Amino acid sequence: MTKVCTHGRGKDIAMQQLEESLRRLRTDHLDIWQVTIRRRHRPRAASRSTSIGTACVIDDKRDRSVKQKTPLSNQRTLITPSGSISELAKEAKDCRNCELWRNATQTVFGEGKDHPKIMFVGEQPGNEEDKQGKPFVGPAGHLLDRLLAEAGVDRKKVYVTNAVKHFKWEPRGKRRIHKKPNAREIAACRPWLDAEIAAVKPTVIVCLGATAAQALLGRDFRVTEHRGEFLVSSLAPHVMATVHPSSILRAPDEQTRHQQEKEFVRDMAQIAKLKI
Ligand code: URA
Ligand code: SF4
Repeated sequence: MTKVCTHGRGKDIAMQQLEESLRRLRTDHLDIWQVTIRRRHRPRAASRSTSIGTACVIDDKRDRSVKQKTPLSNQRTLITPSGSISELAKEAKDCRNCELWRNATQTVFGEGKDHPKIMFVGEQPGNEEDKQGKPFVGPAGHLLDRLLAEAGVDRKKVYVTNAVKHFKWEPRGKRRIHKKPNAREIAACRPWLDAEIAAVKPTVIVCLGATAAQALLGRDFRVTEHRGEFLVSSLAPHVMATVHPSSILRAPDEQTRHQQEKEFVRDMAQIAKLKI
């Protein structure tokens, strides 16, 4: 009996030790496992919350190729995708993601009234916008306002912004002449646009001109081929691209300008019809 008992006790002790070892092993393993999980998750979660480059998923392969050209290491500003427009605008004041801030007066962030349903994306602020710090307040903005009214689009439902938030220009005499932003600058500024889309959640996005279309729809998108068409995109339920109002201002003669205005109004009338 004793033997059995001793043996039994010995066996019990051996079992207890084994169980203890197993428990420790499991716990240790779990710790290792948890650490691994944490290690694996943290950088991804961090990159998701600090870099907006991944905040807005866009299906377009070409769009990804634009983004790939600007490595994240080049983007010095961390942007919070969940910020409200006023928070983002405040943050964007100090953006140094590309060199365009150097020659501009200020960052011109997007603007719109309460819960705008329609987002217009232009190219970049012009001379007047740069001085006033507001988008679409110069000649192109006035034309946009007039044509939207003609088409029956409620300006109160509209948020206006640009693909690039600083005025790029070159001197010509005393004047500052608008210079087109390049693909790298567009890509560097894209996080702000993504953040605006995430904050506004527009029902309709309208790209005005090739730069905005390039920023949001990919480099190979041709406004001339697809203007006024509703496009399938994960950016918003309705996405459209059309010409930029400043291209209408540059029309060679009155008759052409009139015709181009009519075409623009026709595109905008489709948006008015959505009854959003
Ligand atoms: N052109 C643009 O693209 N954006 C503005 O804000 C003004 C003119
Ligand atoms: Fe930043 Fe855009 Fe200005 Fe470049 S243009 S500095 S990315 S806000």
